Amino acid sequence: MQKNCTFSVFLCKNNARFMKKIAIFASGSGSNAENIARYFSGSREVEISLILSNRKDAFVHERAKKLGIPSYTFHKNEFDEGDLILETLRQYEIDFIVLAGFLLKVSQPILEAFPNRIINIHPALLPKFGGKGMYGDRVHQAVIDAGEKVSGISIHYVNEHYDEGNIIFQATCEVLPDDTADNVARKVHELEYKHFPKIIEKVVLNI
Ligand code: GAR
Repeated sequence: MQKNCTFSVFLCKNNARFMKKIAIFASGSGSNAENIARYFSGSREVEISLILSNRKDAFVHERAKKLGIPSYTFHKNEFDEGDLILETLRQYEIDFIVLAGFLLKVSQPILEAFPNRIINIHPALLPKFGGKGMYGDRVHQAVIDAGEKVSGISIHYVNEHYDEGNIIFQATCEVLPDDTADNVARKVHELEYKHFPKIIEKVVLNI
């Protein structure tokens, strides 16, 4: 596993153990990761301690650098095997994992190490429009093709199946007859930015 940037997080952050520490996994742009990190910046209760990605070229690493959060890239086989990633999560004393635009299925060793402590956001109203290969614009196009009049977001716990864990929260937006996938994506992103950090806070702090 490769570290993308180096920061002395252990020296400068409040390290009291009542602080809940989160690792965000993201595969792409990372606008949700950044929004979540900004929401918790300065919090005494929740810290985004780490960002992990399966893609070295993911823009989320640039965002992490700007935010002063260490970020790492791992290979898919390291993810499937689990040991190295779990060791890194242990090193940073991670309590919860948040998937924010992360496209791999979470491997068994990681699921077992974080029971009910992995949260995902999906850009549609599950149980519809989920499953393998359903991410980003593919989801929005499928919603349009099905003639849906509403779409939205689903925040859910992660289990061994794609997009099938218990739903924690959903919010909806309108889909108009002439909406493109880009339009729907914009509306869905707005919902994500508004709700995802607050729901993470509730789950992590159990409030
Ligand atoms: C978000 O809309 C998220 O819901 C979606 O990817 C986008 C990532 O955007 N996730 C999935 O489709 C997972 N199946 P971001 O990188 O700008 O946060």
